[in-house]
Amino acid sequence: MTTPAAQAADALVFFGATGDLAYKKIFPSLQAMIRRGHLDVPVIGVAKAGWTIDQLRERARDSVTKHGGLDAQAFEKLCRLLRYVDGDYADASTFQALRKALGGAKHPAHYMAIPPALFASVVEQLAQSGSTAGARIVVEKPFGHDLASARALNRVLLQSFDEAHIFRIDHYLGKNPVHNMLHFRFANSFLEPFWNRDHVQSVQITMAEAFGVQGRGAFYDATGTTRDVVQNHLFQLLTNLAMEPPVRADSESIREEKVKVLKAMPPAGAGDIVRGQFAGYLDEPGVAKGSKTETFAALRLAIDSWRWQGVPFFIRAGKSLPVTCTEVLVRLRRSPSFYSAHNAACNHVRFRISPEIEIAVGMNVLSPDDGVQSLPAEMTASRHPGAQEMDAYERVLGDAMRGDATLFAREDYVEEAWRIVDPALEADTPVHAYAPGSWGPDEAKTIAPPGGWHDPRVG
Ligand code: BG6
Repeated sequence: MTTPAAQAADALVFFGATGDLAYKKIFPSLQAMIRRGHLDVPVIGVAKAGWTIDQLRERARDSVTKHGGLDAQAFEKLCRLLRYVDGDYADASTFQALRKALGGAKHPAHYMAIPPALFASVVEQLAQSGSTAGARIVVEKPFGHDLASARALNRVLLQSFDEAHIFRIDHYLGKNPVHNMLHFRFANSFLEPFWNRDHVQSVQITMAEAFGVQGRGAFYDATGTTRDVVQNHLFQLLTNLAMEPPVRADSESIREEKVKVLKAMPPAGAGDIVRGQFAGYLDEPGVAKGSKTETFAALRLAIDSWRWQGVPFFIRAGKSLPVTCTEVLVRLRRSPSFYSAHNAACNHVRFRISPEIEIAVGMNVLSPDDGVQSLPAEMTASRHPGAQEMDAYERVLGDAMRGDATLFAREDYVEEAWRIVDPALEADTPVHAYAPGSWGPDEAKTIAPPGGWHDPRVG
């Protein structure tokens, strides 16, 4: 699904070549792209580390070995494609060296795997060195810290790139099961008659992580759960669930429908959020003394559209919770029949995004034991991602190189998402302590779907 203007990139430049993201995600994705025959252009790493190309190759070797395994043939080709420019991002000579390394490339993709604070100067230097014409830019989240900073960031990017050439990565969109939500909704016709306010009672999205901040204390403390995963990853799940069927398969028809969902959402206020912090967070390296950053958030949201008005949407996400699992549960209204009187539950549709891919439909069946009571049963389609399956980063990097914008966040989408969460964050609500391994603070029970939060551990 590409836009008509899409053109394949003829070089990949990645800033932050010696950094954490390159090590954990980018090198393994590049090797995988080569293995699939999806990458055959120069790859130019840029960083200020005082390294040589051999050191970068060693780093790449270590990276792929630790993240998925070394494929000798593909890795050897990656080494042949790899170039390295070492230098300060504020220094014009770094960008002259980059210009030289680009050679005759006419449509390079510049990937900013660096902190957003550096974006402005890198974009300016790219423009001054004549490296932006015909190029595209790929940026990592966070896209700003709030609406005002997101707008400022967009202004910087738009000075040198038009919107069609800005690819904002939300790696959740590259996940197969996230994409599959749309396929499941729109390739099947049986859902549509009940996918609306007349039949849906509530929608809940849980993103639970059983680990803490994993050495990312400084980043996390400046960010918090709502900015880290709710405003972006989980809003993408929500818009996939709630959007109207796109009328065409091109990227803009699809992204348009997603933006419309956000436009119909009123801002969340102080009463729509409960924030928590796991006990022990304050001792993490990089976390400020007395920090009030949340490591858990529960939010209540609404969509004032013809389809969804009156249906409450809930999101909860957090670190140090009992399990690592991302799941969506759409609960339907109860059957009005006397048959449902004996213990019957609401029907539901459940999408599990990770760790395994699962789609389940929950229903009531007659208990074989007494012939009156209902028993809950689920019809489940489930599978674990295979080793050869495309990783989210491989997919989004490949799409950015091909010029397919479908799986990237558009400027208006990002800004609408901030508009919704900003007031809840600005309200500076209390941060309640919770025990690691629990489902967040007790106060989170005040923001819960009718029938309660579903525990992913019970299927
Ligand atoms: C990142 C967040 O964007 O997504 C992390 O910064 C989070 O805090 C991660 O753990 C989750 O992504 P995945 O793909 O590992 O489930």
